Amino acid sequence: MTDNADLAALIRTIPDYPKPGILFRDVSTLLLDGPGFRATIDRMAAMVAPDTTLIAGIEARGFVVAAGLSYALGLGKLMLRKPGKLPGEKIGTDYALEYGTDRIEMHVGHVRDGQKVLLVDDLIATGGTALAGVDLITRGGGIVEQALFIVDLPDLGGAAKLRAKGIKVDCLID
Ligand code: PRP
Ligand code: HPA
Repeated sequence: MTDNADLAALIRTIPDYPKPGILFRDVSTLLLDGPGFRATIDRMAAMVAPDTTLIAGIEARGFVVAAGLSYALGLGKLMLRKPGKLPGEKIGTDYALEYGTDRIEMHVGHVRDGQKVLLVDDLIATGGTALAGVDLITRGGGIVEQALFIVDLPDLGGAAKLRAKGIKVDCLID
């Protein structure tokens, strides 16, 4: 990871959100900044493994990252959605969050068997969300060898959990 201090300076920190004691790193201020968002996507795009053929983003903030990368690289994107949003046949995984529980779902048949899928999101904290994404993509037949995030909160251990599964994890900002 390079420093990316210019991008880190565009992310604000909100204490006690959504619960007392949580320091919330808010990427919405980075997304507001046009040159900052372009630099974010350009720097992430440069890290993407060349054999990647599909980009999976996790609702909602992960969609912003997935859309930027998918446009930059000319690759398709797969939406991993919160419950009740997908119209077709789907599979789902429940997971624990730093502050609650949630579920993500994926359309069946939207990943080819053996397809190399890059998982992206704005931020990894406990890793519950990303691990649920890996579970879904793997059950759908895909292979997740790399995951990319704008921000890693290393104290919460999520990136280490993905690496323990043999996934290469890259982040712009710790
Ligand atoms: C945030 C963030 C990641 C996840 C990280 O999403 O965008 O998806 O939490 O936390 P974890 O590593 O502890 O699982 P959130 O569920 O708040 O949803 P949003 O993108 O819809 O705001
Ligand atoms: N910021 C944004 N999303 C999050 C955070 C955070 O600090 N923790 C878990 N999801």
